[in-house]
Amino acid sequence: MKVLVTGFNGQLGYDVVKELESRQIECIGTDLQDFDITDREATIKFTKEYSPDAIVHCAAYTAVDRAEDDEETCRRVNVDGSANLALAASQLGAKILYVSTDYVYGGEGEEPFEVNDPTAPKSVYGRTKLEGEDAVKRHTDKYFIVRTSWVFGINGNNFVKTMLRLGAERDELNVVCDQIGSPTYTPDLARLICDLIMTEKYGTYHGTNENFCSWAEFAAMIMTLGGRKTKINPILSSQYPAKAARPLNSRLSKACLDRAGIDRLPTWQNALGRYMEELKGDLI
Ligand SMILES: NC(=O)c1ccc[n+]([C@@H]2O[C@H](COP(=O)([O-])OP(=O)(O)OC[C@H]3O[C@@H](n4cnc5c(N)ncnc54)[C@H](OP(=O)(O)O)[C@@H]3O)[C@@H](O)[C@H]2O)c1
Repeated sequence: MKVLVTGFNGQLGYDVVKELESRQIECIGTDLQDFDITDREATIKFTKEYSPDAIVHCAAYTAVDRAEDDEETCRRVNVDGSANLALAASQLGAKILYVSTDYVYGGEGEEPFEVNDPTAPKSVYGRTKLEGEDAVKRHTDKYFIVRTSWVFGINGNNFVKTMLRLGAERDELNVVCDQIGSPTYTPDLARLICDLIMTEKYGTYHGTNENFCSWAEFAAMIMTLGGRKTKINPILSSQYPAKAARPLNSRLSKACLDRAGIDRLPTWQNALGRYMEELKGDLI
């Protein structure tokens, strides 16, 4: 098995490569310095030369608010880039795993979304990630789509690092309490991804740590585990206007994993504890 990973300079791609290496699976981590996924010719050339059995596609335009003003670039990366990689995979007969998002859903109700529930993205980012899913499906049957949420890992910026930094500076912080979802630790998701690509259980999955919380609850736990005294004041999304609308309900059902016989991930609380250990000496 030989695996090409995109988005190696980002949070998830970095840990997917680490996980593959720990399993002694031959792999290459790629990013913009290797090829630009929006360049079809370059993508196909690089991929053909490496000739992987599977592509794990973690590269994306992930600046959710910026995307509202830069739809063209966002679409080029998330839709055209994903189509290019899926085309390259299908030409080689390789599998492709595309990482998608909870933002493909509209966020209504309070029940966890099932993988076949209707999608209704509220933002440019969410729409382009969904179109990226469709582009992958159009080019090959050998696809896995893994929708994840609220990602945190060692290699890059994320909510946990921001909270720890702000916690060192402020006594109180306002954090939204009406968006509910699951924080997801990249080494845990990387394990799920590597388990999946070893199979032929193609299809769409949800991959997040277990249990649900609000951003405010997540922030409070970060402060506790990070030894910060900062008080978290819960506020409504309407009191924290952002360029892009976010779904209020980001709960993702993991029944799809049970049906496929794939292990669920540990709880987000357990994952956050391990992340704090990983961060020790890094920035706190
Ligand atoms: N972060 C989250 O909370 C979250 C939530 C749900 C789903 N997801 C999905 O999970 C996946 C991984 O997210 P992440 O947080 O690891 O993302 P990330 O840290 O932003 O990393 C994305 C990587 O893709 C690279 N990239 C962007 N445009 C490219 C291009 N044209 N060609 C080649 N590489 C390019 C970026 O390079 P530069 O930095 O140089 O631009 C970056 O290294 C993405 O598919 C994302 O949509 C993320």
